[in-house]
Amino acid sequence: MHKIVFVTSNNGKFNEARSILGAKKIELLQNTEGYPELQEDDLEPIASFGAKWVAEKLQIPVMVDDSGLFINALNGFPGPYSAFVENKIGNKKILRLMEDEEDRTAYFKSVIGYCEPGNDAVVFTGIVKGLISFEERGSGGFGYDPIFEYNGRTFAEMSSEEKNKYSHRKRALEKFFEWLSSQR
Ligand code: IMP
Repeated sequence: MHKIVFVTSNNGKFNEARSILGAKKIELLQNTEGYPELQEDDLEPIASFGAKWVAEKLQIPVMVDDSGLFINALNGFPGPYSAFVENKIGNKKILRLMEDEEDRTAYFKSVIGYCEPGNDAVVFTGIVKGLISFEERGSGGFGYDPIFEYNGRTFAEMSSEEKNKYSHRKRALEKFFEWLSSQR
């Protein structure tokens, strides 16, 4: 079985990726090493830099996932600052910022970065479009899942199997898997 080290301290991301790649006979191992997060407007350079940094540090091939929620009425906020904003203000205050907004459209984006020591990192992007709900709903998932609606239900109202069918992470991991398969 092909094994890949996924560097993340976010267990939600890890469990989803483990199940998505596990179905493709890839075993994921979690490493919570951490890496410097660049301050950039796009997630791609953040994931690319992070993957390269840990691959060279540990001298093994690694995968990282940099993701975020982009709300159109807020000009893409919190975007690359999603982790910081979630920790500082959380879902309830995001909903308050959205109180008078008619445009509820938003998207989640996940960028998978993969790097083998001595090589450049490669990145794979997945996006899922949805709507910001008017209240938090559901108890599944993690992070912004209770306020992100896809086809009428929030990601937190879905089982993990269902979220994994539609999510940004699934879409990015599919591209990563296609690329990995073409390398073997
Ligand atoms: P980072 O990728 O570690 O910089 O953080 C991404 C931020 O977006 C964290 O606050 C996550 O909780 C949040 N996030 C990423 N993916 C998801 C998801 O699938 N559902 C809900 N929140 C997510």
